[in-house]
Amino acid sequence: MNRAHHRLLLIAGLALLAGCTHLREDDALYARLGGEAGIERIVSDLVDVVTIDPRTRRSLEGIKVKHLKHSITMFICNVAGGQCDYEGEDMKKTHVDAQITEAEFDALVGMLREVLDRHVGTAEKNELLRRLAPMKRDIVAGY
Ligand code: HEM
Repeated sequence: MNRAHHRLLLIAGLALLAGCTHLREDDALYARLGGEAGIERIVSDLVDVVTIDPRTRRSLEGIKVKHLKHSITMFICNVAGGQCDYEGEDMKKTHVDAQITEAEFDALVGMLREVLDRHVGTAEKNELLRRLAPMKRDIVAGY
């Protein structure tokens, strides 16, 4: 094999490795959050506080908590790179009627931060928050 061949092989190898690392990183978050069971615990704790906290409970009065917990668990599972069966609508459609304010959104993120601190490490917390942050423009009314 000549040098050009070697270089080609090296590039192909690196590309393959980069591809794999990327894939692994993606579903690694799902695993690092504890898989479906871990995410279920996180979401359950979050919904428990969000539905009673005076800063966020307004829009959640009268909702079916069990269904909401399941739906958000499936949604976060997919966001983390898992393969879950989320059957809900997109973030814009889901939240438009509730007219969520920026203050409500930011309060929920603060509560999620605290819940995540109890369940996972800083890297996992930051990675999940980083993936959820761009959804603010769809969730907050008129943002
Ligand atoms: C990153 C932030 C958020 C994410 C990822 C998120 C995700 C979701 C998901 C997946 C659903 C279920 C959709 C469905 O089943 O069709 C949902 C519903 C809902 N969310 Fe959010 N949400 C976020 C922020 C908020 C905030 C800040 C509030 C208000 C304080 C809120 C209030 C609601 C309400 C009222 C519903 C509908 C409940 C129902 O009618 O069953 N969400 N959200």
